[in-house]
Amino acid sequence: MPKALTITIDGPAAAGKSSAAMGLAQRLGYTYLDTGALYRAMAWKMIEDRVTIEDEAEVSLQCKNLNIKLSLIKDATEVKIDGFNATPHLRRPEVSKAASRISSYAAVRKKLLNIQRAIGENGGVVAEGRDMGTVVFPKADLKFYLDAQIETRGNRRYQDLVQAGEKTDPIATIETIAERDRQDQERVHAPLKPAADAICIDSTFLSEKEVVEKMFQEAIQARARS
Ligand code: DC
Repeated sequence: MPKALTITIDGPAAAGKSSAAMGLAQRLGYTYLDTGALYRAMAWKMIEDRVTIEDEAEVSLQCKNLNIKLSLIKDATEVKIDGFNATPHLRRPEVSKAASRISSYAAVRKKLLNIQRAIGENGGVVAEGRDMGTVVFPKADLKFYLDAQIETRGNRRYQDLVQAGEKTDPIATIETIAERDRQDQERVHAPLKPAADAICIDSTFLSEKEVVEKMFQEAIQARARS
């Protein structure tokens, strides 16, 4: 029986992490974990409760006693907070912005750390986020850092937003994700960066299928080594 690997994928916004993680998990028969969904769900709850997102002390206090339940279903990570299903609201632009902000708060990261680790504990998981290979699963069997040029990422996100019926324009979308990347990279706690032992993939000129194929081949080799 081959070892069930823990595989991590980190990278900036709209680099294609979710589709790569989903596709790779499917090929390997592993669980897909979207950790951004946890930060987004927490941000959604703070917005719902009218907590000032910039107020670190208040957000930290409010998030402390929240009851967070994760359900890992085939193509999605479903998150319930205090019994309310946050999942349908997670992709809203104001939630993206607030998620990036509150993810810089130590108390928020601490609250979500064990939930993520509990899922990766026994392997057989492809976990996607910003600090998977650096902080959450530093001993992962295989780590990827997926990136792409900012214009490409902005365009991909723009297409997603148009499909979701959001009103925006490509330039504004590029600026928004560039700002979110800056915030994610410059924060003190668990900043976005490649793990020292991560395999870096630039997806600018690669299709989703090609990215998954590259990762799959690496996973086969890692499984043979383990
Ligand atoms: O991957 P995403 O776009 O759904 O993530 C939303 C925000 O959550 C992102 O801007 C930063 C934060 N995040 C994080 O800090 N650490 C993670 N592992 C995943 C997401």
